[in-house]
Parts: sequence; C-alpha cells; structure tokens
Amino acid sequence: GKGTYPTFMLKEIDEQPAVMRRISQHYLPVDQPIAIDPALIQHVAQADRLYFVAAGTSYHASLVGKRLFERYAQIPAEAGVASEFGYHWPLLSAKPFFIFLSQSGETADSRQVLVEAKRRGLPTLVITNVANSTLAREADYHLLLHAGPEIAVASTKAYTAQIAVEAVLAKAVGERRQLGAAQSFDLAGQLALAANAMDEITDNHQAWDQLAAEYLGSATDAFYLGRGIDYDVSLEAALKLKEISYVHTEGFAAGELKHGTIALIEPGVPVITFITEQATADHTRGNVQEVKARGGNVLVIASEACQQAGDQIVIPTLTDELMPLVTVVCGQLLAYYATLQRGLNVDQPRNLAKSVTVE
Ligand code: M6R
Repeated sequence: GKGTYPTFMLKEIDEQPAVMRRISQHYLPVDQPIAIDPALIQHVAQADRLYFVAAGTSYHASLVGKRLFERYAQIPAEAGVASEFGYHWPLLSAKPFFIFLSQSGETADSRQVLVEAKRRGLPTLVITNVANSTLAREADYHLLLHAGPEIAVASTKAYTAQIAVEAVLAKAVGERRQLGAAQSFDLAGQLALAANAMDEITDNHQAWDQLAAEYLGSATDAFYLGRGIDYDVSLEAALKLKEISYVHTEGFAAGELKHGTIALIEPGVPVITFITEQATADHTRGNVQEVKARGGNVLVIASEACQQAGDQIVIPTLTDELMPLVTVVCGQLLAYYATLQRGLNVDQPRNLAKSVTVE
C-alpha cells in the first residue's frame, strides 16, 4: 500500500535512498567478493561487445549502462530501443552479449528481441525488478533490482536501481578483467553518497513544489538539456514530465540546440539544464546563455564541482556516470509537482499501462 503517502509515485521517489542502500548491502558485502554469479561475470568479461535492449525509462537506464561498461569494464557497448532493434538487427560483433533491462520483465518489445537472441544462440542477461517474470525466466542469467514493487505507471526507483545494478556488474566485470579503473572504483562509497544526496532532495518536498510552480506552472512546452551523462538524464526527466503532466517536452543534447531547437525558445519557455560533467560544463554554460538571451526561463541543476553563482539547484558530485542517480530525482519531483498542480492523476496517466505486453 501507499502507507501515509498520497500517491505511489511520491512514495517510490522517496524510497530511492533506501533502495541504493539495499542494493549496496546485497551486491557489495563488506570485505567479500561482489555477490554476482561468477559464471555471469566471466561470460560478460569474455564479450567483445555488449548490446543493451530496453524500452522507455529502462532504455534511458541502458544509455547510462553503456557508459558504465565502457568506462569500468572497457567493453564497447550499444544501447537500442527494443521496438527498433527487433526489426532492424545490427551487424553483430564476433562475441556479443545481450543485456535486457526491464522493470516488469514483461515488456513485449523487449521479449521479442530476447526470443530472437536465444534462437540465434546468443548469451542473455535480464536485469529486472520481478524475479518470476517472463524475461527473468527466459534469459540465461538474471539480476534483481531489489527496488520493491513499483506501482506508479511512471517509473522512478526502477531507473535508479537499474543504474546501480549496472554499475555493480560493470565493476565486477572490470575487476575480472583486472582493470585499474574497476579496482579503484569505490562503488559502495558512491552509492552511500548518492543515497545521502537523494535524502537531502526528498526531505524537501515543499521546495520542489515551489520550483515546479515557478518553472513549469503555466508551461505547455518544456525543454531539458545536457551533454554526455547529463544528456542521458535529460531524456529521462523529459519523459517523466510528459507522461504524467501531458506537457510537451523534449530532452536533447545541449550542443544540438543551435542546430534547430533554439528556434522554439521564446520568452518564458522553461529550459531545465543539467550541468554535472566537468569536461563539457563550459559548453553547456554557453548554451544556457543562448537560451537566456532569448528569454528562456532556465533552471540549472549543477553538481558542486560545476556550480556557478545563480544556479538554482546544487547537488553533491559523484563520478560522472552515477550523477543521474541524483539528478533524476530532481526531474522526478519537478514532474510530480507540476502534475499535482494541474490536478491530474499522477499514478495512472491517461493512455498508459504499467507494463506494455503488446508489440
Ligand atoms: O517494465 P519495463 O521496464 O520493461 O517497461 C518499459 C517501459 O514501458 C517503461 O519504462 C515506461 O516507459 C514507463 N512509463 C516510464 O515511466
């Protein structure tokens, strides 16, 4: 049940710090090896390319997974939308390994690719929140998210749990490959920092209610931008707002602004900007100036390492690939309150089902 919460979505947003701690306890026991089947670690470590396949929010988590595996396991990775992948199979590498992400484990688009991968004799892993789901039963391996049931149609804690579990596997595979980057990756420490930062954000519901009113109150369109890892989270934050508030949103790579989208920036248009990646922060700041010069209503969410005077939200700095654990919570709460303020049903938006079991 919802307990004392008015909605499942708010309860599930607030559960995220506990989910981070649970994943850490489960998969990263102190002074013990990472708690993942060694056969799975070995199988992934031998791959020459990883193929992530997922839909919706899980697809957005797989974009982060690609970055985690390339950095910490040094295995090239691709992330594909299941409904595209299934009908347009790419030319595969010699030793591919398939990783499916699905909160429900029932998504038909993803299952269709899994069935074909199995038919081709390719190795498969499903990362899911539901142990006895169809995908968990059908894949060679499965890893559980331990996020607890997610009831709200808009996925929240599954996304952050997916990123955390991807990071655990990427570290385990990188260690198996004896990579310094993986050995020195203090993932337990990072997840603890992320959990504390999430706590700080979720402890302050009223502030998010006010920010949503100020930036999204009367919006009919909203833009989310960022580069690199901040681009990945901008896609997820944009999906969150659009699917529950019905505000038209677009998440895009900040550098693409000048290639078209800037034509839509007019006075008052909300532009939520994520700036947590030091390597690209200055370029994104330049984009913020372009938006402001056209009257856009810019809300900056920055990490401490990238912060500048005037930034509305500043969050602790984590390693780049884990920043979405925290930045997405800001996006979730903005979407939540913008929807409540419109008097809409947060948990059950129109036209959507929790799991999409048709192709
Ligand atoms: O259960 P799955 O993770 O496979 O579901 C995938 C998408 O249907 C799901 O993430 C959907 O996009 C959510 N409504 C997003 O909030």
